[in-house]
Amino acid sequence: MTIPEPITWISNPRAATITHSPAVEKYFPPGIAENVRDFHSEISAYRVTPLKSLERLADQIGLDKIWVKDEANRLSLGSFKVLGGSYAIHQTILKRLGNPPGFTFSDLRKPEVRAKVGDLIFAAATDGNHGRGVAWAATKLGFKSIIYVHKHTSEARIQAIARNGAIVKVVEGTYDDAVRQVNEDAQRNGWQVVSDTSWEGYEEIPIWVMRGYTTLFSEVQQQLVAMGKFFPTHIFMQAGVGTLAASAFGYYASLFAQARPKMVVVEPDKAACLFHSMEVGDGKPHSISGELDTIMAGLACGDPNPIAWEVLYDCADGFIKCPDYVAAKGMRVGGVPLHGDPSIIAGESGAVTLGALMFIMELDRYKFLREELGLDENSQVLLVNSEQNTDPDDYRRVVWDGGDQIPRMYRVSRNPFAEG
Ligand SMILES: Cc1ncc(COP(=O)(O)O)c(C=O)c1O
Repeated sequence: MTIPEPITWISNPRAATITHSPAVEKYFPPGIAENVRDFHSEISAYRVTPLKSLERLADQIGLDKIWVKDEANRLSLGSFKVLGGSYAIHQTILKRLGNPPGFTFSDLRKPEVRAKVGDLIFAAATDGNHGRGVAWAATKLGFKSIIYVHKHTSEARIQAIARNGAIVKVVEGTYDDAVRQVNEDAQRNGWQVVSDTSWEGYEEIPIWVMRGYTTLFSEVQQQLVAMGKFFPTHIFMQAGVGTLAASAFGYYASLFAQARPKMVVVEPDKAACLFHSMEVGDGKPHSISGELDTIMAGLACGDPNPIAWEVLYDCADGFIKCPDYVAAKGMRVGGVPLHGDPSIIAGESGAVTLGALMFIMELDRYKFLREELGLDENSQVLLVNSEQNTDPDDYRRVVWDGGDQIPRMYRVSRNPFAEG
């Protein structure tokens, strides 16, 4: 059996030449991130999530800073995803009301609003986190929700969705099959689908989801500016269908244009549909098929989100795919940090960028990539821990029991006696 490399890279040199991205202009018009953040700020449980600095680790692996935006406790739901689902539900209801100005999340609960909107049922397909966010927002507003998961979704993730008030339906196949199935059933039953991915004729809601995530990045910018920093020099963003990465890259491209950070997408090698799209190289999104069997459940998607792809094709400087042991390394490094650094409890999908960054910085074989990306002692890298240990059993399998070991040939020699 061949051992997969920790990092496989494909660059997108055209991103550096794009002076004007129609996709960024269309999806991230001026002021949108402020509007979205105003909306989230009205939710009573809303809090800014921490931006953690791994100072000692940055020093050890040859960087100036590593910042991790830690979404583990976003609205007590375990991941950033609720930012997109809640904003999309809000916008959907507003549209049905004819877009009256100044409507907050709690205004939507008022009886006169309910009377006008009627008994909507929100539906979504999920690998866990998006469905949990949609269920939470629908329940908070007094609506029903039906969430479709695929058969490999862990019981812990299913229970977390059900606890937030949704009916959960398990379907055969993968996340992409669940997306197709929920859409078919919704059309038959008159449910309102709130999807984090788009298809022809269904774009408005996924655009709202993508915009909803910008709150995370506008918080990061506020936190950096408070520390006297301008913006990160590099961003590594994990991707399933690509909506989160497009939100990050679109946000930074719209704020800083060509002076933006270097931006890289990271995917599991078993579900690297964005990497594959770049490899095909015709500028269009391309699906991959197969079992998508990766521990990174949140990233196990074979169909790219076409609107996210438009942004990524213009703004991502490159794409990385990596095996599960890279995520496992990130989980262990986050959970057991260097003395003095804060700990980060990251699930498989949340930890992969930290793992990837460490392999790039520590292995000689990636010197070319460090040079290409300009990663050195002046670099300030932004990562997002996009989820907590949302599957606690798998977290312990990896972190306690050493699951998904790093192949010997890719381990870094840390013999303290070698240094004399
Ligand atoms: C924890 C986590 N991180 C990252 C992602 C990737 O987001 P996207 O599918 O928008 O690329 C997901 C998606 O569900 C997720 O659950």
